[in-house]
Amino acid sequence: MVRHLIDPLDLSVSEIDRLLNLADDIAANPQKYAHLCDGKKLATLFYEPSTRTRMSFETAMLNMGGSVMGFHSAATSSATKGESVADTIRVVSCFADICAMRHPKEGAPRRAAQFSKIPVINAGDGGHQHPTQTLTDLMTIRCKKGRLHNLTIGLCGDLKFGRTVHSLIKSLARYEGIRFVLISPEELRVPDYIIEEVLKPKNISYEEVTDLESVLPNLDILYMTRVQKERFFNEADYVRLKDSYILTEAKLQTAKPDMYVLHPLPRVNEIALDVDDDPRAAYFDQVQNGVYVRQALILTLLGVKLPC
Ligand code: CP
Repeated sequence: MVRHLIDPLDLSVSEIDRLLNLADDIAANPQKYAHLCDGKKLATLFYEPSTRTRMSFETAMLNMGGSVMGFHSAATSSATKGESVADTIRVVSCFADICAMRHPKEGAPRRAAQFSKIPVINAGDGGHQHPTQTLTDLMTIRCKKGRLHNLTIGLCGDLKFGRTVHSLIKSLARYEGIRFVLISPEELRVPDYIIEEVLKPKNISYEEVTDLESVLPNLDILYMTRVQKERFFNEADYVRLKDSYILTEAKLQTAKPDMYVLHPLPRVNEIALDVDDDPRAAYFDQVQNGVYVRQALILTLLGVKLPC
């Protein structure tokens, strides 16, 4: 049976542990994995812009001896001629062994998976989910804090449209002793379904606040996000909300010495450049970890036999 990754919960907690252990080993011993995908092809089907996710997938495949193909905008694909996602994936299944798909429409990768003969990885669907960013985030948190349980996680910024936030909450909610502090303007609060279907049924501790500085000293992780300009219907609302939170080195003085700052990137204004030199800034480590964890995911979904 072909295995896909569409939603973060498609992987069990023990599968995520195994993936993160494999990613750690890939990071420590890259040569061991350098030819495990010789002859394999990855297709990157990106209907929406990306720098990190697409290049990270491509780097992951190239690091293991495979090759890559694809398109980086809907405008350069036959979507402009009206081809459906279902037909596109049927076609791509004839060319590639595995594919990563980003699409502005929520649910498009799931639709593709229904028609695919190869594993489909959701590389971000609208404001919905971004499961491989979550694997990147989990690897970084585990690496920095040594655990994924008993943590107070602050998520700050655009919690409404930020798909990385939705996926991360869904995943972390499965670990013991996680507390969420949801920091956003009223208009950009986390969607109701996250509260009603993820947090409340599991009795997960959470609070929704608008002020970052008052909660900063309590956090173990601060996950900053940009305001998602491309998801706004109204430019004036975006302009009003875009600079709601700007983390600076001065503000970080009240945070714990081992509170790490994560951000899925791209950053716009929400983290000042002076934070980059703080040893707690972990957002570029996230990018590097993203390659290792995508290597681990590709190997897992392709069912490649791993070296001892
Ligand atoms: N984090 C992330 O998804 O970045 P890109 O949009 O550049 O892929």
